[in-house]
Amino acid sequence: MTGTLYERLGGRESISAVVEVFYERVLGDDRVNHFFENTDMSALRAHQTKFLASVTGGPVEYDGEDLSSAHAHLDIDGEEFEIIAHHLDAALADLDVPETEREEVVAAVAELEPAIVSAK
Ligand code: HEM
Repeated sequence: MTGTLYERLGGRESISAVVEVFYERVLGDDRVNHFFENTDMSALRAHQTKFLASVTGGPVEYDGEDLSSAHAHLDIDGEEFEIIAHHLDAALADLDVPETEREEVVAAVAELEPAIVSAK
């Protein structure tokens, strides 16, 4: 298939649906939901949708905080990162995103790990 990953995923509406399912999964997981206790989830969903749209090549300018500053104070470790990355993959699968596109999203997200993980 041709086009940017953003287009192949189905554009902003599909990404927004993925983000919805992703945070439902995350908030249902007691290993990581404590991180989001004081978070304005509708603002986070909006930022995450923009962020994913921009990293997948969409015509969207992410204007949120840069990822290291957004996560530095959270003291996230590698295992917690894996849990969250898995929920993203599972959300993509729930919405029937084909494996090729899922792998591309997961690979793009894996590159962000050094910016997000700060726990020793
Ligand atoms: C898997 C890759 C990840 C991506 C792409 C990602 C992306 C983002 C984005 C775009 C924001 C919004 C920043 C802003 O509001 O300006 C954010 C905030 C946040 N992220 Fe992540 N994140 C990831 C992993 C994680 C992990 C592993 C955790 C915790 C285990 C986490 C916890 C949070 C929390 C709690 C906030 C909100 C902080 C607040 O309340 O302001 N994130 N993330």
